Amino acid sequence: MMQKIFSGIQPSGTITLGNYIGAMRQFVELQEQYDCYFCIVDQHAITVPQEKKELKKQIRSLAALYVAVGLDPEKVTLFIQSEVPAHAQAGWMLQCSTYMGELERMTQFKDKSEGKASVSAGLFTYPSLQAADILLYQTDLVPVGEDQKQHIELTRDLAERFNNKYNNIFTIPDIRVPEVGARIMSLQDPTKKMSKSDENQKAVIRLLDDPKQLEKKIKSAVTDSEGVIRYDKENKPGVSNLLTIYSILTGRSIDDIVQSYEGKGYGDFKGDLAKVVVDYFTPIQERYHELINSDELDAILDRGAEKANFVANKMVRKMEKALGLGRH
Ligand code: AQP
Repeated sequence: MMQKIFSGIQPSGTITLGNYIGAMRQFVELQEQYDCYFCIVDQHAITVPQEKKELKKQIRSLAALYVAVGLDPEKVTLFIQSEVPAHAQAGWMLQCSTYMGELERMTQFKDKSEGKASVSAGLFTYPSLQAADILLYQTDLVPVGEDQKQHIELTRDLAERFNNKYNNIFTIPDIRVPEVGARIMSLQDPTKKMSKSDENQKAVIRLLDDPKQLEKKIKSAVTDSEGVIRYDKENKPGVSNLLTIYSILTGRSIDDIVQSYEGKGYGDFKGDLAKVVVDYFTPIQERYHELINSDELDAILDRGAEKANFVANKMVRKMEKALGLGRH
């Protein structure tokens, strides 16, 4: 039997180049060898305030982008989390096996709650729901960016705990983080990761940005005053981040790129990078616009929800049985 993959992305804003490089790009490669479940995790998105019209738009937009970047709906199961109620059911059961202390250690919670006047309980317990997302499908491998490592480790702990305490029903998933590009940094503060919910629009390259916006953002990316293009993550985080992006999108090695910019300035380098990004995004955006208002997209999501419900409901029954819930 083919090994299984699960990964999700939150519709909390238009996908960034970070989400693409850290997560989506891997999905496209992996769909050939694995039985893949890719999810639009809208229930995770409401752990922080969302405007309902905007959320609706982002859910559909993310679905279209999943397909536009090259996922083949004939090969993968693409679905919306809230259309598969088993996620919330399993999430609750796993929440009851999660310790407060474990959740308190999650750095993403600390980052996202810092300085906020009110923080939802959902933001705190969201790693348990994420564990449910993964464990429902007997997932072998979870391809994600580096920021999600801690959550996947918690998922593994929760699965082992459940297996030992109740019944051996869960597969223990492995994490897969890309070798390069696992953490793309903000263009405005290269010590911080690029995040789709960043309020500073200039900090974030989005997959649906138009060529003018892309050029403007890349040209105003924060670098340093040395004026030399070389890779040095410690001392030159801005330039190093741009080099990583350049290398991944062109398939050229960083050394090769550095050599070709010997004696040239940041202006030339950024101008060329903007062109690289625009060329890379153009076909994705074209396919996106064909899909976004199509019935084809609804048909893909309907099929995905049906398949996911079938698989996930079976696991929920197993979990309930293991816990002694209901009348099974
Ligand atoms: N900067 C990044 N570099 C590489 N990978 C990244 N990912 C996120 N940021 C980067 C990966 O993208 C996938 C989807 O992430 P998510 O939507 O579940 O939430 P996130 O990790 O919290 O991503 P964002 O963009 O920062 O969203 P918001 O702003 O809503 O919190 C994951 O695989 C993640 O690792």
